[in-house]
Amino acid sequence: METVTTSLQQVEVAVSDLNVGMYVSELDIPWLESPFLFQGFVIESREELDQLREVCKTVTVDMQRSSDKPVTDWDHVADEDYEVAVEHELSAANGVRTTAHHLVSGIFRQIERGQGIDGDAINATVKDTVDSVMRNPDAMVLLTQMKNKDNYTAEHCINVSVLTAAFERYLGKSRRQIEEAAYCALLHDIGKIRVPDAVLNKKGRFNTEELALMQSHTEHGRDVLLASHAVIKPAVDVALAHHERMDGSGYPHALPSDIIPYTARLVAVTDAYDAITSARCYKGPCSSFDALQLMYKDRDRQFDASLVERYIEFMGIYPPGSVVEMSNGEVGIVLSVHPHHKLDPRVLLVRNRYKEPSKERIVDLRRKAVDSTGHPYRIESTHANGNFGIDVKYYLKQGLLSKGFTAARPALVS
Ligand SMILES: [Fe+2]
Repeated sequence: METVTTSLQQVEVAVSDLNVGMYVSELDIPWLESPFLFQGFVIESREELDQLREVCKTVTVDMQRSSDKPVTDWDHVADEDYEVAVEHELSAANGVRTTAHHLVSGIFRQIERGQGIDGDAINATVKDTVDSVMRNPDAMVLLTQMKNKDNYTAEHCINVSVLTAAFERYLGKSRRQIEEAAYCALLHDIGKIRVPDAVLNKKGRFNTEELALMQSHTEHGRDVLLASHAVIKPAVDVALAHHERMDGSGYPHALPSDIIPYTARLVAVTDAYDAITSARCYKGPCSSFDALQLMYKDRDRQFDASLVERYIEFMGIYPPGSVVEMSNGEVGIVLSVHPHHKLDPRVLLVRNRYKEPSKERIVDLRRKAVDSTGHPYRIESTHANGNFGIDVKYYLKQGLLSKGFTAARPALVS
């Protein structure tokens, strides 16, 4: 089929002649009958090319908005930086997370009943978590945004384990080191099972006695894990020392910085990040950006400063799952971040400039997407999950975030 020029920029192109990087401004079928979520997009992958070839004979390409040369396709990027693309990892990551949830809840029950901890089950879950993180860490990191207030301690343990594994991967640690750190992180708060619910869930400030009870979770954690011969020794150290501080003012032993084990310093960072970005009974969630800022302020006193600095570099300003407000007032959720272009993520827009729910569509800041007035989209600010009535978990459940990667993919989260 011949290519027809309909204007200086608008060119009708046979689907067989399309390339990755071309900007498709119009289809030869109604958009609503197509699997594509939005009108006007850059072809980013071979998968999108195949989808277009399945449903259309020709499309109109805007040459001005198309790249001069084919844009690197994300599958190719994934080949270079990650073993698989994030959209291919989300389903497996969700399965691992569900298993981890059953595991941690089961461990809590076993401890309550005075039973032993199943060491083999912990090993298997940690291995599956690290397998997923090694294939592509963005999938499991995105799922850490599925905060569940009702089951905070279990969710928090899983999130800290995932963030620790992904961070260690970023730091270039060996597979064995990553697994050990993820294992320790998964069990770091296990001692909270011995803290009364009335204290764990208290909304106001702790009195002296309550504070002591809360802080005792570190020593309870050590005791519970020591009593279980199925648990590795570093996990005992991390449960005991993850609230020690670099200025020597931590608990339970006010250890000097050079005595605090590396993995406890590491988990102190991921623990704080997840806690600050989560909604609790006594506080609302902070945005990732605000959490990183708070941690940076405390980098010398509370944390290992070099680890906090590397963690900020690792998370970037807009980690997957962040709620962001654009310069034109529209609001969206960060879908994915290219490893070499962390300031230009892909965003699923879900609110119009009046903050009203809008038809979901995706803009890719790396592709210089423009709004309805022709101005390039820019991120103005980041917000906590829950702001503007946006619950990231809802969009995960609807499968919309996965649609952001692959239009026809079904919902993933049960
Ligand atoms: Fe803790």
